[in-house]
Amino acid sequence: MGHIQAENLTLGYGSKKVIQGIDLNIQKGEFLSIIGPSGVGKSTLLMGFNATTSILGGRMNILGTNLGTIRYTELKALRAKIGVIFQGFNLVSRLSVLDNIASGMLHRKPLFSSIIKKYSDQEYEEIYEYMKVVGIEQEALSRCDRLSGGQKQRVAIARAIAQRPEIILADEPISSLDPVSARSVLETLKNANGKYGITVVSNLHQLDYAREFCSRVIGLNGGRIVYDGPPDQLCAATVSQIYHKDHPDHHDNNCFSNPFTPASLPLPMCPV
Ligand SMILES: Nc1ncnc2c1ncn2[C@@H]1O[C@H](COP(=O)(O)OP(=O)(O)O)[C@@H](O)[C@H]1O
Ligand SMILES: [Mg+2]
Repeated sequence: MGHIQAENLTLGYGSKKVIQGIDLNIQKGEFLSIIGPSGVGKSTLLMGFNATTSILGGRMNILGTNLGTIRYTELKALRAKIGVIFQGFNLVSRLSVLDNIASGMLHRKPLFSSIIKKYSDQEYEEIYEYMKVVGIEQEALSRCDRLSGGQKQRVAIARAIAQRPEIILADEPISSLDPVSARSVLETLKNANGKYGITVVSNLHQLDYAREFCSRVIGLNGGRIVYDGPPDQLCAATVSQIYHKDHPDHHDNNCFSNPFTPASLPLPMCPV
């Protein structure tokens, strides 16, 4: 069974339909990105997988649980299996790298020992393993507000891994980073995907990174999926449909990040 299954799914806010009647099936271990311009509904869809945005129609199953009939206790258990990473990192800035990563383990630690930040040898070992996976072990005791953006995002990835999740949802994880940090964050996510078999779905504004790192790309426009397939088959006309067709909330058309340019990223012609 797929990790994420949607049938004729409509998501939105109140009476506002943002994602409109989509079908989707994402298998365990996939590393995929949702692409599209600002305002097209990438976050709405991604947060739908975490049962944060409302289902206005159709069906969605996440890790075998039907979100349409889910109860509160099931929802808590489901969310524990889903790590979420945000553009703004959402770390506790005055806490150390180690304590931030450990907070990912909270749902499976007795409350008292987590409040006094007391970890067993086994827990220290586990946290150290996650620090090494994201390459932040040198900063274990540094306060998070002393770190660079790329380092912060790698701590956020380690915290998500510490949840032992089955799925990681990353909402624009590299949007606030320089190109070198962006690449290291995507490499770190890819490592986590390969090492632990975690399904990773990330929203990326930049098409070039999606092409470089992901095995599957979903292109959104007008609330619908206009492309679902491998990045190397994404043709010029489809890219232009995703990024240039007017959308009421469409803020910009720049889908390429520095130092890339459209010219440095030749796109195949569409089949006729
Ligand atoms: N909490 C909300 N309430 C109402 N409308 C929202 C809310 N969040 C987002 N929207 C609207 O939903 C649409 C899609 O937004 P979003 O999913 O954030 O797009 P993206 O992530 O692609 O930039 C936009 O029109 C946005 O204004
Ligand atoms: Mg968004």
